[in-house]
Order: sequence, then structure tokens, then C-alpha cells
Amino acid sequence: MYRFMAAASAAVLSCSAALAQGTDPLAPTGRWTAYTAGRAATPPMGWNSWNAFASAVDEEKVMGSAKRIVDSGLADKGYRYINLDDGWAAKRRLPDGHLIIRADKFPSAVSRNKKTPSFKPYTDRLHAMGLKAGIYSDMGRHTCAEAWSPTDDDLPKGSPAERAVGLYDYVEQDIELYFRDWGFDYIKVDGCGLRDFGPNSPKVKAGVALELKPILDLGALTRTDVDAVQNLFRRVGAAIERSNPDGDYLYSLCIWGAANVRAWAKDVGNTSRTSDDISPAWGRLLVNLDSAVHRALYAHPGSWNDPDMLHIGAGDFDAAHLTEARSHFALWAMLNAPLLIGTDLRTTPDALMEIFGNADLIALNQDAAGNQATVAYDSSDLQILVKTLDNGDKAVAVFNRGTGMQDVNLQATQMKYRDDAPIELTDLWTKKQTRFTKETKLSLAPRETLAFRARGTRALADGIYLSEQPGKVNPAVDGVTRPIADPTIFRTASGWAGTRGAGDRPQYAGWGGARADSAPYGQTLQITRKTYSSGIGILANSRLEVRNDGYRRFSTKVGVDDSATDKAHTVTFTVYGDGKRLAESRPMKWGMSAELIEADVTGVKLLELVARSAATETEALSVTWGEAALTDRQPR
Ligand code: GLA
Repeated sequence: MYRFMAAASAAVLSCSAALAQGTDPLAPTGRWTAYTAGRAATPPMGWNSWNAFASAVDEEKVMGSAKRIVDSGLADKGYRYINLDDGWAAKRRLPDGHLIIRADKFPSAVSRNKKTPSFKPYTDRLHAMGLKAGIYSDMGRHTCAEAWSPTDDDLPKGSPAERAVGLYDYVEQDIELYFRDWGFDYIKVDGCGLRDFGPNSPKVKAGVALELKPILDLGALTRTDVDAVQNLFRRVGAAIERSNPDGDYLYSLCIWGAANVRAWAKDVGNTSRTSDDISPAWGRLLVNLDSAVHRALYAHPGSWNDPDMLHIGAGDFDAAHLTEARSHFALWAMLNAPLLIGTDLRTTPDALMEIFGNADLIALNQDAAGNQATVAYDSSDLQILVKTLDNGDKAVAVFNRGTGMQDVNLQATQMKYRDDAPIELTDLWTKKQTRFTKETKLSLAPRETLAFRARGTRALADGIYLSEQPGKVNPAVDGVTRPIADPTIFRTASGWAGTRGAGDRPQYAGWGGARADSAPYGQTLQITRKTYSSGIGILANSRLEVRNDGYRRFSTKVGVDDSATDKAHTVTFTVYGDGKRLAESRPMKWGMSAELIEADVTGVKLLELVARSAATETEALSVTWGEAALTDRQPR
């Protein structure tokens, strides 16, 4: 009983549903539980109106960009979703609650014989162009622009209840309208309505918005009702599924890394914002990148990290800053981020169109294996990201975060290639090919990202390390009991707030989550001084789901990581195959040398790796699945 209680409390945030039913969240399920519904086997690509136009969006602006997407050939390269963001709603009609479109901005919505404007002609037009259509709403009663817009010009009008154009009291009705009646294929659900309309909100005080007690606070997880937020998003997800019996939809969550969403969005929707809004400023790119870059294990086909839309075309990423613009694109491609263009394509110069159209980088982002790049070399000024592709090639991005030149040693071992066999590199910007063995020297200009496709000889000849295939590893329970902000995420002077106040605080929860090739808090994976360059680091009382694609053998060296400060509690490591126990370690404590666990996994579709302990403070109990690998693949 004690063991069960401990395990249960360890999973309190990610497994509240299981707890409510009194079940053990570490018990094997035999099922992959991350989100796979909808149409996001690869990250969505397309265009969104917000970065270019904010709420001053209209039909001509959207259609102009849609037309350029088709005419320029970007549509053929995969840019398909044309997403209308905030600013389209005129009001909610009462008493029937029907949403009214701003007909002055969307003339096709008004037809002579119908009284109520409809987006059907608009989505029909996009569909006829071979594109898909996206819409925007908010989980609360009012949208972000209604909270933050400096002017009233483009906001809904009328009584507070008429201005309540968000989903809150109308989930089923609105979702049905968007998907069944209006024919949209994609929805972005924002979260300002859940946080910005408390009793002291200027809009509530001014009598232009309905009050809603905040349940979300980006700056204070302790003031966030994580379960309530998650339940609302699940309810919207269920409505979306009902309104789309053919499954052709995409559900995009937008609560900017609040409510510990970086841990649970993978179970609830197709993409999820990991940070606050991007702006066309270098520091902001770093924040948004950092919010996703160490969380490869939380992204899979069907459930992607979203560090926000591309801001190529403005500020630090405009045509006068091609180095920065290229870095932005290459990094987002490597992260398996949605590639949503955020500029007015009617006037975009060719040099930037070429970046959007780089087919080699798009191919990395859209690679069928769905592995987000992992961090092979990490520092505050230089990072090397490596992504394992479906055909076994590696994609490599070498990223100079800073403002000085950087000399770089790129090593075979960083790609998990043998260092005694040649490696072929293709530069994905210049297409130049080079070869090296063991190590090559590169030189990077300030803010430059070199991007390569690499082909070499795998260090693990007959298999794959789990950390090479994060798209097939799901930390169903990651052991985090008290989510706290990740202090390593870059903090920048935010453009929108100026430098008033005390500055940017660490705010994105997720510190201590599951990591590829790293202990949960960033240390080297290490058991009794032996380091592991490959492996999964996670906290105790955790359960990893691993898809097995025809391999026959699983092996790993397990133990409590040297970085753990809990030296008292034991941890037992168990491997399950399709729900059945296959292998188990002895109870292990800090200071005990690693134990080899092996299992025959022939025919097994899903492995589960459970690290169970009676400890309740699992934050102090990091464990290591060292060299965890699937080998000996069945001939296909
Ligand atoms: C929030 C979102 C943005 C955008 C605006 C619209 O700030 O994060 O991406 O949708 O709202 O108001």
C-alpha cells in the first residue's frame, strides 16, 4: 500500500485521471497514450495571420498570402494550413449564442439570401486552392486581443456577454460551428480568457468584459488550477473529435507553457505552445527555442512542441538579417516545430521565400520518424542538435547563439557514429558535400546555424538507442511531483512590456523532466562514476512507453544516477512488453553500480520502462536508463 501511495503521488499532475479512479499510474497499460488523433503525423505547415497583422486582419490579406503560397510553389512543398488568428469575430449573438463574423473585413461571409454571415464560402475558396483552413478561439470567454489590444478598433463590440466570443460557455456549439458548418480543419485555442479577466482586470472594471476567476497564471504555477485547465482542453478536444468524424482536424493548444502544459499537452492535442509569444528579436528566439529544445521526449507524431510561429520577415529576421532568418528556420525545422509563416507573403522578398522553400530543411521537419532533435552539445553560446531521420541519416544543426565568431569541433561521436569510419556531410544551405573522420572543424559567424545531413557508420551497429528516437518514447509519467520553472531557459527583455518592473523571471515549468542523453537537471548521465553518453534520464516513480518497430532485444544498464541527492531510497527498474513483465532489477540505491537488464522483445509492440520507489520526493531521485537500446531487428 505504501509503495502504491508513493507512486501515485509522484504522478499527481500527469495522472490525475488515473488517481481519481484509484488506479496505479505506474502499472503498465500496454498502450501508447500520447495523442495520435487528428492529422499531425508530421508537424503542421502553413501560414498564420497574427505576426503580420495582429487583429487588423481581413480577407484580402489572408487570401493574398494564400495565393502566394500556391503561386510560389510553397503549397506543393507542404505549406497547407492558412490560419486566421484573433480579430475575426464581431460579437456573439444573443440569446442563441451564434458567433457573428466581422462582415466588413470578410465580405465573402455575407450572402444575399442568408442573414447570418458564414465562413463557408471562405473555407470553400481555400479548399478549392488545395489548402486547409484554420480558425482561432480562446478557452475562456474573451480572447487575448480583448485583454491586451491597445485600441478597441478590431475587437468584438456590444454588451460584455456579446463580446464573449471565447469557447468557455459554448464549447460544443462553437466547435460544431467551426468544423461542421464553416468547414475549418484546424483550431488554435488560446488561453487569455482563463487568466486576464479577474475582478481587477481593466476590461472587467470598464464594463466591457465578463469576469472569470483566473485559473491560469504564467508567472505562478501555484496559482494555477492545472487539473481544471487540462479538463477544459480535454473537453474541447472531445468536441473536436465529435465534430470531425473523418479525423481530419488539427488541435493546437496555446497557453504558452503555463499550467505545466509542457508535461501534459502531448496527451491532449496535436501541438502546444511551450513559451510566451515570439517577437522579431534575437533574445526572444532564444527563449522560445530553449522552452522546447530539451524536451524532445515530449514530442511525437501527433503531439508536437510548438515554440510559436515563424517570425521571418520582420525585425531581426527580415531580409537584411538573412543569417538570423536562416537560423530561425533551421532550428524550427530541427525541433519539429510547426512551420507556420507569420509574414505578409504578398510583399515578401525572394531571399526570404527561398528560406521558406528550402526543401532539404522542410524534409527534416517533415521526416516520417518524427524525432525532434536532441541536444548533443550544450552551452550558453553554442549548441549542436542532432536528429535521427527515418532512413537512418542524421540531421545536424550547429548553432551559434551569441554575437562572436565560434570555432567548433564537430565529432562523429556527437552523432553516435563510429569515429573510425568516414562521415559524409551535406550542407543544407549551400548543398556542398564534405567528408571527415572522427572530428571536423567548423567556423560560425555570429548567430549562424550550419545545417547538415550526415551519413556515417552507426556506433551501435545493429540497433538504436532510445535517445536517438524520442518520437517513439513517451514519458507517460515523468516522476515530477512539484513542477518548478526551468532556470536554464534564456530570459530576455520582452519587447511588449519594455523594461518596466523587475525583469523576466524563470516561468516555464518542466525543470527535471525526462531527458535524452542527460540527467533530468542537465547533468551527465552517470552511475557510480561511469558515464553514459546515451540513455534516458528521468526521476523515480516514472513510466516510459516505447514503441518497438520490429526489434528483438532490449538492453539497458540501470541505476540511481550519481546526481540524485536521495541516498536512502531504493528504486526497482522493471521492463514490460505489451503489458507483461519481462525483466526487473534488484532494488537499487545511490552508490550501487549499474545493473544490466536484458529482455527478449520479439513480437512486442510496446515496451514500458518503470522505475518505482517508495520515495515521495522523487525530485531528489534521478534515475538512469543507461545505453537503453533496441537491437537485432527482424528482417522487414
Ligand atoms: C496570444 C497568442 C498569440 C496570438 C494572440 C492573439 O498572445 O499567444 O499567438 O494568437 O494571442 O490575440
